[in-house]
Amino acid sequence: MTDDNVRIFDTTLRDGEQAPGCTMTFEEKLTVARQLARLGVDIIEAGFPVASPGDWAAVHQIAREVGTPSGPVICALAHANRDAIDKAATAIQPAARKRIHVFISTSDTHIEYQLRSTREAVLEKAREMVRYARSLCDDIEFSPMDATRSEPEYMYRVLAAAIEEGATTLNIPDTVGYAAPEEYAELIQGIRENVPGADGVIISTHCHDDLGMAVANSLAGVRAGARQIECTINGIGERAGNASLEEVVMALHTRSQFFGTRSRINTHELARSSRLVSTIIGVPVPPNKAIVGANAFAHESGIHQDGVLKNRETYEIMSAETVGLDGNLLVLGKHSGRHALRNRIESLGYELGEEDFQQVFARFKDLCDRKKTVDDRDIEALIADETQHIPEIYKLEHVQVTSGTGVTPVATVRLRCPDGEARIDSDHGTGPVDAIYKAINRVVQRPTELTEFAINAITEGLDAVAEVTVRIREQGAVDTAEAQRRGPQVYSGYGVNTDTLVAAAEAYVGALNKLVAARQERIKVEAVAYAAGYEKSAAL
Ligand code: KIV
Ligand code: ZN
Repeated sequence: MTDDNVRIFDTTLRDGEQAPGCTMTFEEKLTVARQLARLGVDIIEAGFPVASPGDWAAVHQIAREVGTPSGPVICALAHANRDAIDKAATAIQPAARKRIHVFISTSDTHIEYQLRSTREAVLEKAREMVRYARSLCDDIEFSPMDATRSEPEYMYRVLAAAIEEGATTLNIPDTVGYAAPEEYAELIQGIRENVPGADGVIISTHCHDDLGMAVANSLAGVRAGARQIECTINGIGERAGNASLEEVVMALHTRSQFFGTRSRINTHELARSSRLVSTIIGVPVPPNKAIVGANAFAHESGIHQDGVLKNRETYEIMSAETVGLDGNLLVLGKHSGRHALRNRIESLGYELGEEDFQQVFARFKDLCDRKKTVDDRDIEALIADETQHIPEIYKLEHVQVTSGTGVTPVATVRLRCPDGEARIDSDHGTGPVDAIYKAINRVVQRPTELTEFAINAITEGLDAVAEVTVRIREQGAVDTAEAQRRGPQVYSGYGVNTDTLVAAAEAYVGALNKLVAARQERIKVEAVAYAAGYEKSAAL
């Protein structure tokens, strides 16, 4: 291979999205895919099309919209099965550059207990399915699942067969997050030395974080010659997650001499990508998270502050600006007009349609009346809130709460309902938020469970804007094949307001709207997928 850069293979929309509570709607997947393209990832693993018509439709739309000739390669996952490979191939068909990722387990534990098969049968299956995938697509990635617990000599044979049948990338998953960096590096080295043809393909890492070593293992793999890293934004993924994209990218960027290679990622888009995914799935980024956490560049101790003021290099190995946490915050106020706001939004890198812009402008003016200065962080929060495009099935028109010492918190809400009627109801609770949510529940009448509630102040000061993120789990009826397969879903809501309780109410209504919309969307998307070529298949 001539190009020695590390390819960044983003699997936020596949491995990340399949984690409990990280489900995204069709529209949200598209929004993330567009941002991944701006970030400059080399490959987007857009989904697992055979899993459901909804997954197929999302991959198909991403391939159509984001898979432009200058855009990323669009990849679809398939287990070693003809139908799964067919569905992967049809889903990525509109993309200019496409890849099918075929996997089968090679550890004895998986072969015996999960596949109920034998080593020889698995080897043959891998061979046959890679050959079949290659007949449909020129770019084939093959993964021996649970590679780090597979017997190396046997796995070498499977990998050699995959290369013979036309695989162009060999991905080595640490499926259960078991490996240590030295071991993982040895594994990659062993593959390069023992698998015939390995020097003609890209070797890729895919590490889970069960022991907190996913990033270290991925980078150890690069040191041993891997030239693709599979990772996710904020490290989301099965169980403890995958290697975090922002961490591997900044390690390669900051220590490029040590690693002897780099990636093509536009690092200035890292913070925004992290915020976007966090907002969509409703999982806040911990403040101490490397690279994108709120404290990642904060110097608290006096000695550190003193050093940084004298020379940044004393305690900073990279700058906040490099990852898009802009140190250069521009302040706007109530005298700023449409033009100033539009310029600022554009220079922050957002392209808003006229309708979204007008909504953000109205919210910006409203915010300026309540807050002395409005900076980039406030504007980005308003954009995130306004561009969620959650249908306003229920619209919060009014919320009023009484609470304090010695009184039972009581809330009254008025919601505009799907039938056009405005309904008012009240309830009391253990606290003001509980009272609001109970009052909303009395109007909406959807059985759900609140699983998470988080408040964050976007900027400093008493007049700061509050952002509230909630997660609710649906209960009750399953309506489609996808709903049945995935089980109860978690939906997040996001609210931004200078009044924390209003933000809390908005976030909750937003999550309920997502839940109702997702049910409607599942039914619609399944119909669209069937119309666009998705064929019903036997269960997985
Ligand atoms: O972790 C894993 O083994 C996977 C494979 C499908 C590549 O996600
Ligand atoms: Zn995985």
